Amino acid sequence: MGYTGFQAERRGLEANVTYLVGREENVLIWEMSLRSDRDRKVQIFPYVELGMMEFLREIQWQCYNKHQLACYPMGEVLVYRYGVENQPRPDETPLVFFAADVPVAAFDCDRDSFVGSYWSEENPVGVEQGELSDSVMYGGDPCFALQLDLELAAGEERKVHIFLGTAMTEEEILQTAARCRKADFAQRAREGLQEQWERYLSGFQCTLADKDAQTMVNIWNPYQVERNFQFSRNISYYATGTFRGVGMRDTAQDILAMIPLDTGRAREKMDLLFSQQYRDGHCNHYFFPTEGWEPVTRIHSDNHLWLIMDVYHLVMEEGSLEYLSRELPYYDGGWGSVWEHVGKSIEFTLSHMGENGFPLMLCSDWNDMLYKVCRKGKGESIWTGMQFGTVLRMMKELAGLMGESGVKYEEAYQQMQEKVNSLGWDGAWFRRCITDEGVFIGSDREPQAKIWLNTQSWAVISGLGDPDKQIAAMDSVRKYMDTELGIRKIYPAMEDYPSKEDPLTYYNKGCGENGSVFCHANTWAIIAECMLGRSDYAWKYYRQLLPMVAQARAGQERYRAEPYVYASNIFGPESDRFGLANVSWLTGTAAWMYLAVTQYLLGIRPCWEGLSVKPCLPREMLPAVVTRRFRGKVYRITIRSNDDVDVEPA
Ligand code: GLC
Repeated sequence: MGYTGFQAERRGLEANVTYLVGREENVLIWEMSLRSDRDRKVQIFPYVELGMMEFLREIQWQCYNKHQLACYPMGEVLVYRYGVENQPRPDETPLVFFAADVPVAAFDCDRDSFVGSYWSEENPVGVEQGELSDSVMYGGDPCFALQLDLELAAGEERKVHIFLGTAMTEEEILQTAARCRKADFAQRAREGLQEQWERYLSGFQCTLADKDAQTMVNIWNPYQVERNFQFSRNISYYATGTFRGVGMRDTAQDILAMIPLDTGRAREKMDLLFSQQYRDGHCNHYFFPTEGWEPVTRIHSDNHLWLIMDVYHLVMEEGSLEYLSRELPYYDGGWGSVWEHVGKSIEFTLSHMGENGFPLMLCSDWNDMLYKVCRKGKGESIWTGMQFGTVLRMMKELAGLMGESGVKYEEAYQQMQEKVNSLGWDGAWFRRCITDEGVFIGSDREPQAKIWLNTQSWAVISGLGDPDKQIAAMDSVRKYMDTELGIRKIYPAMEDYPSKEDPLTYYNKGCGENGSVFCHANTWAIIAECMLGRSDYAWKYYRQLLPMVAQARAGQERYRAEPYVYASNIFGPESDRFGLANVSWLTGTAAWMYLAVTQYLLGIRPCWEGLSVKPCLPREMLPAVVTRRFRGKVYRITIRSNDDVDVEPA
């Protein structure tokens, strides 16, 4: 976990390299080991292409800003200074350095000198000639290139370390480089990393009959959970990091899976999110704690409600009401306890109800595509009504624990229940939303987008749907929406709905929100089937989206994503690219899949009294064994059948 390695072997020379960042220094360590079958001389050319630290500037104004870049040697250490003053945080911009723990024979700081005009990084002129030119760069395109000349004896293993790091001053660079060159530095970094991941992953480990599922539960799913939690939907292979920052709803959902693994980190993030809540209860949509930019202030109907789920899960995990009394600021001034903050979330929704009695959609709910439903401010979200019902039940329970009356939450819940089962019910499934004009979307009466997944699963999750309707709704999901590569989000996909002139979406059929297998929303169907006690369906829905299973079914040529992380969505059957996985890593699927499998399929869920164990596994998955950390102790849970479980201290 947390490192990447490559191995190569050619003509009797073996090379291994591992890249990792340890906990102690701001340094990427390249640990290289070489072994040769005979005595020989070897040259190594570690190279880094340096860009402008704000990548857009490189595209917009490289011609001038290149005058402010410098790259030069300081003894045997190379230094890069990004001196662009009119960037957001010039005073916090570090120097970058590059060093090795063996003598440096030569170097290049100027990219053109190293690569060569009309040559390329595939075949740099410096490497081809076997000699770097000691170029320095004051104005131009920077790079770090080192030439390391080694002599290897037959059979001898040689380790070489290279360090790519940052520090604020030249002096600090020299100190850091000296620490890095100490003999056991890389080893300590590796061990520290290993310990950190072991501690994190040991919070929940299982032995399952399904080894694909076991690998996901024990390793990759919590790994993805951590990466999402840390980086939100920010800079990555898919996202530039320039406009999404930290999203309120996405991060609030990421937190749900961090709570069972590390409540300390979850609390810190929750504090951060609460500081984006206004006194009237609504929240900023995205914000930028690192960059310091102005937040995106659009009001969505769901953002502030996710916070209640975080608080509820945290209280149950910790078995303590302490977090509720924590004082946190409001974005528009003043302070309030967490309990007051979540009370305001409820107040906001109660004071923003539409004509039909469902919450106003505002700028959309969880589904980003629904922003056109409410341009006149009247559109309503039946799904947000269900999300509201879900958190009302949580508030009622928390109020009871606080010694307060939960009557207002119960009343609001009952009102929503009445609406959901009357206006919200279409006959064989639940409708999705109501437009400004009063049209019910997600209805058999409409020509397209007749059924939407989320109002079926959340009718169960919220408990709002009448029992027979819950079952009918989830049966409709299976009948109309399930595929061998997951459940599509809506059916049938929209083409020219509600009109060709002003369609609800320009997404192609089967893409993204318009009828793909939206993996995030699939997790809720798994949870709903578990709540209905239908283990075979729940397991089917879970297993078919395991990345290695989906990849094998679709074939890698079609699937085209990693077989160990969840993707946000997979092109649906109405697309000729059915099976193409899209946006892996950055998705709420990670957090919710983790909850679906650990808390619903395996059924190990914290509640106020302790750890509740109510599995919902199909017979062929039994027995299963889990170790789980809970309130400072570790428990071993043996699931022999869904009604026969043993819990003992591990
Ligand atoms: C993307 C967004 C998320 C949204 C979802 C559904 O995953 O990051 O905020 O809820 O799409 O539209």
